[in-house]
Amino acid sequence: MEIQIQDLAHLNEAARTFIENMGDHTVFAFYGHMGAGKTTFIKAICEALGVDDVITSPTFAIVNEYTAQGSPIYHFDFYRIKKLEEVYDMGFEDYFYSGELCLIEWPELIEEVLPSDAVKVSIQEKEDGSRAILF
Ligand SMILES: Nc1ncnc2c1ncn2[C@@H]1O[C@H](COP(=O)(O)OP(=O)(O)OP(=O)(O)O)[C@@H](O)[C@H]1O
Ligand SMILES: [Mg+2]
Repeated sequence: MEIQIQDLAHLNEAARTFIENMGDHTVFAFYGHMGAGKTTFIKAICEALGVDDVITSPTFAIVNEYTAQGSPIYHFDFYRIKKLEEVYDMGFEDYFYSGELCLIEWPELIEEVLPSDAVKVSIQEKEDGSRAILF
């Protein structure tokens, strides 16, 4: 499916459409070049899900944990990963197989350990600055 985001004014509406189409999946891998809008879209999804606090994990900067109506949401950014060992050390399996929502930036860097049922989401920036979300 494809969601068009004309500009930031349409971001929240796009996030709601995305959420309506998530089905039973919990692990979402967001592909897209630097500045494509991964963080922006993930934050909009979290807001639309009702994230009421932002907890930044001090020990594992790779993952941020938010709480939406009592349930955790895990937001990963693997951009700075140098070795897969770091991903094992942070205990990625406890997150990915927790059944809780996992939203992942730069999944390319951990492709080997991405669950087989992870949903691949691609974010593309168009020439006019609009974005297309494909999944
Ligand atoms: N849908 C959108 N419409 C217009 N501008 C957007 C949209 N999404 C993101 N932007 C803008 O693009 C810039 C980069 O966005 P963002 O940080 O979300 O990208 P990113 O894909 O997470 O980048 P990185 O790979 O560095 O983590 C920000 O200035 C943001 O405001
Ligand atoms: Mg980002």
